[in-house]
Amino acid sequence: MIRSEGLVKRFGAATAVNGVDLEVPTGTVLGLLGPNGAGKTTTVRMLTTLVRPDGGRASVHGFDVVREPHQVRSLIGLTGQYATVDEGISGRENLYLIGRLLDLSRKGARQRAEQLLERFDLVAAGGRQVRTYSGGMRRRLDLAASLVGEPAVLFLDEPTTGLDPRSRNGLWDEVRALVANGATVLLTTQYMEEAEALADRVVVIDGGRVVAAGFTEELRARVGGQVLHVRPARVHDVPSVARVLAYAGLGVAAVDAGDELVRLPVSGPDALTTAVSALGRSGLSIASVDTRVPSLDEVFLTLTGTERSGS
Ligand SMILES: Nc1ncnc2c1ncn2[C@@H]1O[C@H](COP(=O)(O)OP(=O)(O)O)[C@@H](O)[C@H]1O
Ligand SMILES: [Mg+2]
Repeated sequence: MIRSEGLVKRFGAATAVNGVDLEVPTGTVLGLLGPNGAGKTTTVRMLTTLVRPDGGRASVHGFDVVREPHQVRSLIGLTGQYATVDEGISGRENLYLIGRLLDLSRKGARQRAEQLLERFDLVAAGGRQVRTYSGGMRRRLDLAASLVGEPAVLFLDEPTTGLDPRSRNGLWDEVRALVANGATVLLTTQYMEEAEALADRVVVIDGGRVVAAGFTEELRARVGGQVLHVRPARVHDVPSVARVLAYAGLGVAAVDAGDELVRLPVSGPDALTTAVSALGRSGLSIASVDTRVPSLDEVFLTLTGTERSGS
């Protein structure tokens, strides 16, 4: 398993990671979710021995990341860090050679290369020199290269940011296959959807601190899956709208001066109907009412009660 306690990293006066506790049981996927600058990459770099923590401790399968970095490195795959791709040969040859370096048989290395080309939509490009690849193809090949060895512990830092949907699904399939074989995965993402698709449990960090943690279903239930948006015809009715929704039992919305709409995380299929009929009875003039999948901001709003700043 992967574990950290009170992990801290400072850069000059700034604290990038400020006491992060994590636990990823063997054979499970943890989604480390957070906006840009939350401290995800720094956390992963400490756990993978690339950066030394300033406080706290962390271990991978019982090996301390500071005192036993070699043992940790031998267990982990990290996208783009250890698998180096040679631009002068083809994608297929690269994957084959990495397989051979990792002691796969000729046949095993060939099969694994084909499987990964398939997963990452590189079959057609597989025979071409890597130097001719587009940026997106290169990224997919780097991902594939990091997975050749089927690492027992896998760190993926925003692996699907910028990937096309087909390759994203390929990566998800590959991660699920590795986990089915017992791998332990820590994956960072800015997308709730990705965390829900892959992770057993989620830790949400913001400003270097854990702001929420739990099983994916728990967090989803707390977020309710949907956010109600009500926009009154007149801006000064915003507080009245919030009161009507609260009386209707939908929950108390935080409204600030200047807000043009009321946003309220809701759960259950009846929330929209309840809101519409309560607003109808109130006589307030409403421009629009709808429910939508929460943005990351709204997830944060729900989980922490405070809106994150700076974005
Ligand atoms: N090498 C570095 N030197 C100085 N500041 C850094 C360095 N790496 C990260 N930071 C800062 O630490 C914070 C967290 O960054 P990072 O871990 O990259 O966040 P994330 O991966 O969640 O976007 C940010 O404010 C970032 O600017
Ligand atoms: Mg990052």
